Amino acid sequence: MIIRLSHVVAEDTPKGLAARRFQALVQSRSGGRLEVVVFAGARLYGDHDEMQALQLGAVEILAPSLSKFGRIGFPEFELFDLPYLFSDAASVRRITQGPLGQRLLQRLQRQQLVGLGYLDNGFKHMSGNHPLLQPEHFVGMRMRVQASTVIAAQMRALGARPVTLAFSETRRALALGVVDGTENPVSNFWTQRMHEVQSDLSLSQHGYLGYALVANQRFWLGLPQDDRDLLRDALGEAMVFGNQISDTQNDKALAALRDSASTRIHVPDAAQVARMRRTVQPVYDGLAKRIGEGWLRDARNAAQAG
Ligand code: SIN
Repeated sequence: MIIRLSHVVAEDTPKGLAARRFQALVQSRSGGRLEVVVFAGARLYGDHDEMQALQLGAVEILAPSLSKFGRIGFPEFELFDLPYLFSDAASVRRITQGPLGQRLLQRLQRQQLVGLGYLDNGFKHMSGNHPLLQPEHFVGMRMRVQASTVIAAQMRALGARPVTLAFSETRRALALGVVDGTENPVSNFWTQRMHEVQSDLSLSQHGYLGYALVANQRFWLGLPQDDRDLLRDALGEAMVFGNQISDTQNDKALAALRDSASTRIHVPDAAQVARMRRTVQPVYDGLAKRIGEGWLRDARNAAQAG
C-alpha cells in the first residue's frame, strides 16, 4: 500500500527529516508492505491546494503549519501564532503535549481529518533588507505572511502591510521585490536560500512555527487495526525525533548563515523586545473573538504556567 505524505519545505529541515524518519520506520516495520512516499518542497501540493487534496483523498497525510488551519475553519489553531505567547519550547509543549493540544486535534474530525500530533520547527525571526528590531523599522514594509489572521494583524500592528503568499512563492516574491521581508525560523530561511535575497535577519524570536500531522479520515479509519497502530507508532516516533532535532537544525542553519556572510544578523536588545511586545499586544484583544475567548485563556494559562 502506498501512503502519500506531502509537505512544502525542504528535505533538510525538522519537518523534512521527520517525514523521512517516518518513511524509514514504516518501511522496516512493515517489511515493505506499506510504503510511504514523501513529496517535499510543495512538489505535489502547496499551500493553496494541499488541504483540499487531503480532504479529497488525493494524498493521505500532510503536515501543514498550525497557521494554515484557520482559513479552513479552525481559527482556534491561530492561537499558536500569537506574538510572544511562548517563552521557550517547554511553554509550547504545555499546549501541544497537554489536554489543550488534544482538544484542538479532535476538532479536526469535523472536517474528516484525523489529527495525529504536533511537530516543532522553532521560533520565527524577521527578515528584510534592513534591521527589523523595533516597530518603526516595519513601517510601510510589505511583509509576506502565511494565511493567518493573527500573523497579518501582528504585521499591521507593527506598521507593515501583510501580503499572504504560499510558502513556495515566497523566495521568488522576495527576489522580485513583490514583498520586502518575511518571518520564519532559520531552518526555512536557509534551506529556501532566502539569504540570497534578504540582506538582514533580526533574531526577534517573536513567534512560534509548528505543524500538525493530519490524515484523511476515510483512509485512516479504513486501515486494518494493525496497520493503523504501526503507522501511529511510527509517526509518534518520527515526531519525537523531529522535536529533538528542531533546535539543532535551526542552530546548524544559523551557523551556515553566519559562515556564508551573505546576510547581516542582528539581535534586539531588551528595550527593543519590550517595545515590540507592547506594540503587538492589541492583536490579543482584537482577535480574541476569532480565536475564541476560552481557547485564548486556556492557551495563555498553559503557555505561561511554567
Ligand atoms: C512550513 O514550514 O511548512 C511553511 C511555513 C511558511 O509558510 O512560512
